Amino acid sequence: MHTFTQRADVRAFTSAARQAGQRVGFVPTMGALHTGHLELVRQAVASCDVVVASVFVNPRQFNNLADLAAYPRVPDEDARMLADAGCHALFLPSETEMYPTTPRTSIGFGPVEEVLEGAHRPGHFAGVGLVVTKLFHAVAPHAAWFGQKDLQQVAVIRQLVRDLDFDLDLVVAPTVREADGLAMSSRNRRLTPQERAAAPLLYQALQAARAALLQGATVAHAEATGRQLLAQEAGFQPEYFSIVDAHTLQALEPTTGLPPTETAIVVAAHLGAVRLIDNVVLPPAVA
Ligand code: PAF
Repeated sequence: MHTFTQRADVRAFTSAARQAGQRVGFVPTMGALHTGHLELVRQAVASCDVVVASVFVNPRQFNNLADLAAYPRVPDEDARMLADAGCHALFLPSETEMYPTTPRTSIGFGPVEEVLEGAHRPGHFAGVGLVVTKLFHAVAPHAAWFGQKDLQQVAVIRQLVRDLDFDLDLVVAPTVREADGLAMSSRNRRLTPQERAAAPLLYQALQAARAALLQGATVAHAEATGRQLLAQEAGFQPEYFSIVDAHTLQALEPTTGLPPTETAIVVAAHLGAVRLIDNVVLPPAVA
């Protein structure tokens, strides 16, 4: 596997592949890789000739400096895992390589970023939009892979690709879970053993809300069901537990049931010092 630290070098690598008629796949990450990331790489390897993964902890998408400082950084381990998964190139830029000058341009996403993660992490999606734009320019992929765990990020990037005419396919892969249901996340490695034992309750709360909706409960009742379950574990400090349109991320009318569009149940909660997010997506209700 090649390792590139300069944008010009990774661009030369993918340009040569493109000129040779090869399909270039891209998996952007912030490192501390787990099986969920490797699944994205495996999917990319299965459908592309050349796959590039990036590892860059983007300071511009952190609204909390303590979270940025604590974010796990294990580039050697990441490189080994990527090579084993069949990745062809790792793009591992420094902060000055990505941001040689202070960017003055900011990307806004309108309503889709004003709720949930965007409401609790001001500036987060502007930072994601900026770095993903720069990574897409550096790698120039035919297709890029993202995980459904970051459902709102997927909605934002889908809008970015459409509105700014990026000529690439966006591929969204299902969330990969531990055996007990906890969604895989780089942040899980910061949980204490006690917190790790409590963490699967997040997914159980989502499942309980899903079951309530499928049994005909209103949105308000299903949300209350999930929130009550989460409240059983004092360690959780929920930020939101909401039932929303899976594409616009806007809240559903509380007094209605499952709508004829895709619905997502989304949650964010602190468990000790670690902030966890998760979601489940339900298909449209059949009339
Ligand atoms: O999902 C992530 O890991 C990051 O938000 C991304 C897309 C790599 C941008 O920094």
